[in-house]
Amino acid sequence: MSEENFSESPSGPTPSSESLYPGSRHSLPVRRPSFDFDAVVPKHWIGGNALATHVFNGLQLLFPAGERFFIRSVKAALPQVEDEGLRVQARAFVAQEAMHTREHEQWNLRLEAQGYRIEPHLRRFASMLRFIARYTPNSLQLALTAGAEHYTALLGTIALTQPIMREHMHPVMEQLIVWHACEEVEHKAVAFDVMQASGIGYAMRILGYLLSTVMLVGWTVAGTRMLLKQDGLSRREVKALGQALPRQNEAAVRRKIGAGFRAYFRRDFHPNESDELVVARRELASVGLDLVVSPDPAGA
Ligand SMILES: [Fe+2]
Ligand SMILES: [Fe+2]
Repeated sequence: MSEENFSESPSGPTPSSESLYPGSRHSLPVRRPSFDFDAVVPKHWIGGNALATHVFNGLQLLFPAGERFFIRSVKAALPQVEDEGLRVQARAFVAQEAMHTREHEQWNLRLEAQGYRIEPHLRRFASMLRFIARYTPNSLQLALTAGAEHYTALLGTIALTQPIMREHMHPVMEQLIVWHACEEVEHKAVAFDVMQASGIGYAMRILGYLLSTVMLVGWTVAGTRMLLKQDGLSRREVKALGQALPRQNEAAVRRKIGAGFRAYFRRDFHPNESDELVVARRELASVGLDLVVSPDPAGA
């Protein structure tokens, strides 16, 4: 894996000395992993459980088109950003999300190779995003992006700190998820800060957040159902799969999601008021994708 560093420091990323706080201008390394999905990842890659697998698949289906939307909305707001440190982070945000898009597109191709018909679902989702991009103001699109980024950071933090599901994942998928989760934590405040710098107020911020909530939940549930249906599973079989899932940390995860959901409504909320940077980079190293800086001839 190669990596490009967007830190303003010429000496490269210094994860041990960095932390997240409102206004922090920490480095956002753009890593370029390449995951080997071919043939090695089974259909039901979380412990053979189709339900757990397809909840993750249902969410991941949304990433390529969703992240392209995020990139466009942040880029469109950049002329209003005067803080050079934030502009550097915004460019790194774009580069990180572009890498996520690339790898999740590969995963979507793998799902098709496994026999799933996902194209109509992806097409409907992409046309809804095109509709939003065409007929709503940039301010709402940026608020929607900032709201969605709150969720990717929240879910990423859970994936990094609650290893219960990861224990049962195929190692290649665990790498994909930990890499993506780590970078969502690293750049969790960028869209929010760009939104603030663009002068977007509380009402629009919350409108975008609520819209992102409805879209994220609705499309993930729809994708999960579609994949379970294509596996030919009955309701009873799906229920049994749900009962077979490990439950040790369920209450803690529910509390974390509830607290995270409510926090965004506080007027003084900021994504970097909690700092998970050290744990994120530690978990990345734990799956063999550690921070080795190497020259990147391809550029961002
Ligand atoms: Fe992402
Ligand atoms: Fe993101």
